Amino acid sequence: MNTKNTLPKIVVLTGAGISAESGLKTFRDNDGLWENHRVEDVATPEAFERNPGLVYRFYNARRAQLQQDDVKPNAAHMALAKLETIFGDNVMLVTQNVDDLHERGGNKNVYHMHGELLSARCAISQETFEWRDSFDHTSKCPCCNRVTLRPDIVWFGEMPLYMDEIYSALANADLFVAIGTSGNVYPAAGFVQIAKESGAHTIEANLAPGATNALFDESLTGPASHIVPRWVDDLISKYAL
Ligand code: APR
Repeated sequence: MNTKNTLPKIVVLTGAGISAESGLKTFRDNDGLWENHRVEDVATPEAFERNPGLVYRFYNARRAQLQQDDVKPNAAHMALAKLETIFGDNVMLVTQNVDDLHERGGNKNVYHMHGELLSARCAISQETFEWRDSFDHTSKCPCCNRVTLRPDIVWFGEMPLYMDEIYSALANADLFVAIGTSGNVYPAAGFVQIAKESGAHTIEANLAPGATNALFDESLTGPASHIVPRWVDDLISKYAL
């Protein structure tokens, strides 16, 4: 029987699919965000330079949706909090999501590689600030008192955050699990390959196979709120915790 000193090192990557059952839209499913908005208009540095007001409105609408009473963490978020409680520092949770449902579900250590809706960032110092409703494209940055504030979102063409920490965890991972992500956006879509090359067992958990499905050792198919709690419970039993 396995004991605590043989616990696996686990990297979990989540995407918009884990928040779908909490009422947040994904990007590439039917009626997804990219079906209704052009990426070039709202999610690139050039769009922000051209029309910052439009970009702010797009993210303000998403923030307002996130703050609606009926948007809550679902069973998949809660299961990942349980995973962190039980496996501790052996788990790294990396999310492409800019919502705060992992934190609300109870995870303490979340790497938001694409930024966060609930913070703003100074484009010069990169310092981040808790979002205030008064922020708009004319607001002065609290750190430098100039109009350098922007949504704390990694746009297309920008480098995702925490890449050193993530690559180092992937190099040491025994288990890599991608949940609710379509596998279309790099570098996140390439994590499975890196984890495999490091000898990790790789699992895709998704409603339908994603673009990189063939690279995974195992597929769990279904809604995240069903398959993720089951996977977490199976892992806990496997390690007799
Ligand atoms: N349970 C599990 N998976 C689901 C569910 C669900 N209830 N609902 C949808 N999915 C899956 C879809 O099958 C799809 O594979 O979630 C995935 C969502 O894919 P995308 O919309 O492409 O979202 P994501 O992979 O997170 O996008 C990556 O693209 O535009 C950017 O920056 C944005 O972080 C985002 C990145």
